[in-house]
Parts: sequence; C-alpha cells; structure tokens
Amino acid sequence: MTEETAKTETKQAVGQKQQKLAVNFLVRFYIVFKILRLYAENNELLQEQTELLYQNLQELKEASPEISFKVKRESIFFNQTRLKFSLANYSIFKFLLEEFRKREIGLLTIEPDISRDELLRAVNILGQKRTSATPFEEIVSELVQQNVERVRLEKLEASEKLPSPEKSAARLFFLSILHLREVSERNKENEQIRLNTTRRLIQSIFNHLVDNESFLLGLTTIKNHDEYTLNHSVNVSLLAVALGRRLGLSRAELVDLGLAAFFHDLGKIETPLEILNKPGQLTDDERKIMELHPHQGAEKLVRLREFRRLPVSAIHVAMEHHIKEDLTGYPRLKIKNDVNLYSRIVKVCDFFDAITTKRVYRKKTFTRSEALSLMLENIGTEFNPVILKTFIQMMGIFPVGSLVLLNTGEVGLVVENNQETRFLLRPRVKIIVDSQGQKVDGEVVDLTEVDPQTRKFRRTIVKEINPEDYGLEVPDYFLAQAM
Ligand SMILES: [Fe+2]
Ligand SMILES: [Fe+2]
Repeated sequence: MTEETAKTETKQAVGQKQQKLAVNFLVRFYIVFKILRLYAENNELLQEQTELLYQNLQELKEASPEISFKVKRESIFFNQTRLKFSLANYSIFKFLLEEFRKREIGLLTIEPDISRDELLRAVNILGQKRTSATPFEEIVSELVQQNVERVRLEKLEASEKLPSPEKSAARLFFLSILHLREVSERNKENEQIRLNTTRRLIQSIFNHLVDNESFLLGLTTIKNHDEYTLNHSVNVSLLAVALGRRLGLSRAELVDLGLAAFFHDLGKIETPLEILNKPGQLTDDERKIMELHPHQGAEKLVRLREFRRLPVSAIHVAMEHHIKEDLTGYPRLKIKNDVNLYSRIVKVCDFFDAITTKRVYRKKTFTRSEALSLMLENIGTEFNPVILKTFIQMMGIFPVGSLVLLNTGEVGLVVENNQETRFLLRPRVKIIVDSQGQKVDGEVVDLTEVDPQTRKFRRTIVKEINPEDYGLEVPDYFLAQAM
C-alpha cells in the first residue's frame, strides 16, 4: 500500500465515523425534540435522553471540532458532507428536514463547549411549534433572551423555501377539481381513468389535513357554480376524510373513504343538465331520472378497467349515499339491509355541502351553522347519530368559514375552532369589517382573549350572519392566504 492510498483510506474512515456520529446525534436530537412536546422539563425520560444527546455531542466533537448542519434541497449536510440515512432513519430525517424548513433554518452551528443545560434550552426553543410569519426571527430572539450563545442559526435561503402549506393545499384543491373533470370526460369517452393519480391526490389531502385541518375545511367554502358537481365532489371528499379521521379510521381506510367520496356522484354525468340545473321543483319523471344517479354511478365504477384497484366501498358509497339512517331515501331498498359505514359518512358530508351551496332550485342557501342545526333535527332518522355528532364536534358551533357579528360591532370570519368544549363559542376569527362598518384586512383574534383590566372577554359573538346579506365573499379570504 502506498502512503497516498493509506492516507485516502484513513480519510475515508474518519469521514465515515463522523457521518455515523452526526446521524446518531440527529436521531437523538429528534427524540428529545419529540419528548419535549409531551413532557415537562423535569421529566425523567427527557433528562435521560438529553444526557444521551449530550454524550452524542461529546463523541461528535472529538471526531470533528466543527459541528454544523445545513439544509440544502432534499439533504442535510454535516459540515461539508451530505449525510446518508438508512431506511430505518429515513422518516426521522424527513421530519427534521421539514421542521427546519418550517422554521426557515438553513444552518445550525453548535459550539463544542456548549453545556448540557444550554443545549437543552436550545432544543426546547427550536422544538416549539411556530405559527408566526417570521419563525426564524422569533427563534433567534428567544435564543438571545435565554442566553443561548453557543447555538447559532442562519436563515434558509429564499430559493430553499417551500411554498406555504396554505398555498399547496389550495393548489391541491384545484388540482383535484381538474383531475375529476378529466376523469368525467374520459369516462364519457370510454377512455381509461388513472386511479393512481386519484389515490395520490387523496393521500396528499390527508397529509395536509394532519397539518392544517382548519384551512382545508375553509377551502370547502369555495363553490364553483359552473362546475357544481366537480367542486361538490372534492368538497365532500375533503370533509369525509377529515370526518373519518375524527372517527378513528386508519390512514389506508381514509384514502379508500376519500376515493369513494370523490366518485360518489359520478353517475350525474348521465343526468341531463336541464334536470340538474332546473330552477324550481322537478316533475315526478324528472325526479326519477335524477334518482338514477346512484345506480348509474355504481355501474360506471364497476365497469372501470381499473375496477380491481378501487375499494369495494366506492361502489357502496355511489349506490347508498342518498339512503337515510332509517333506510328510506333512494334507491329504494327491497331488502332492508344496513348501509356501509363509508356511505353514512359521505351522506353527512354530502348533505352539508349541498345545502350550503347556492342552487337555482333552492330558495334558501343555509349558512354553515344553520345547516348543522337543520341536520340535527334529523339525527337518527336521516343521519347516523355518532357520525353526525362527530361531524358537529369537528365543525364547531360556528364552523370554519362562518361569518359572525361581534359585540364590538366588528364582523369576523371563523378561521379555526377551539377544540376545548367550554370554548366552543369562542373560535379564532379574522376581522374583516371593523367597528365602523369598514371592510378591513384585519388581524386574526382569539375570542378566548381576556382584557386584563376588565377581566372580561375582549370580544364575544353576538350572532352568525349570512355573507349574502353583507355582500361578502367568504372564499376570497381563504384564497388570499393561498396566493
Ligand atoms: Fe348524489
Ligand atoms: Fe353529492
């Protein structure tokens, strides 16, 4: 062996050792990061893991006096080398990469002489959830406040930033509508449908739901009247996945449920537009034609070339989504059998989306909370009690997208419900009309906020108002966030 090759080999071995220690450190960092969200600082498990993290750091600093982690595209670099993750660590690595991005951290440097306490303080600050528009600045100022001097951060370069979650959720929403339009057109032409794409869309919807349920529920205020059935199907799919998640279905089940909901009205391709959009009451014959769509939808699904890749529940949902809890409704059942769970979930979401959408044949458009109260009147007969109650719990008394008049004279748009039952009447709202009656692009306020002087709530909802009466376009506010 020449001296040169010996040198290169030692260099490689050192590099590999550093790699391994750096990955170990990140994995431990992840564990502490996660525990911090669950336990207080004096928790034993946390103490133990922080100790291990600190030990990892000691080993790492012996191998490399310089300790920095950099986020670049889909990779994390330790000093100058790109870290390789095993399959077992891959999800941890993805998680960290995303969390760094969310906080706009591009580079994290740790000075080797950091103490255990300072390290814990730093991880604690880094680990906190951030909702502000300037997470990086917030973290830096907290590090200074808490005397963390041995952890230094650099901001992520603009080109490394991902689009905001709102932006990508809205994009996904419109992509789904476009996809469904393509599906319908292909189906009319007897062409093949790509179920894989549909499945991937629903999976992304699920991922977004986990991150930001409220915003996604807000998107269902978008009602495109020209493409009612398409828009409606996407809304129902979104609501159904959110509701199924609340009911405890697994991820795989939720994707099936989302798919089934997505295609629930596929049969309407066959319903003549004059009937679908007829102002006023349908004649008996017209109604009969309209009521064929469950059958027609199920038949279309069965005939798909990719039928085997479709969950069986999709056929059930197409067939049964107009059957009520007491088994009346249509298509009329010859044998009174129970309907599928997914059909019952879709039924609730379908009804809600339909009556909150303005239609030529219906005199009244229900506001979101009027719709819930109407549905409650039919609990047990039309809707399954457990499913409807869970839906109402999810939507809140004033669902996301409702407009509310406040006791300050302001008008607010509900953007997020408070999950604590005692605060059901106190959601977070965006002020869109000020107390002088002027339209404003106001801040988002929390109705649980108390005025320290009077010790009373700063704002309280007086009543829900109908956006139509005020000439306000609710979807615009959700879309504005997505621009
Ligand atoms: Fe339907
Ligand atoms: Fe429907």
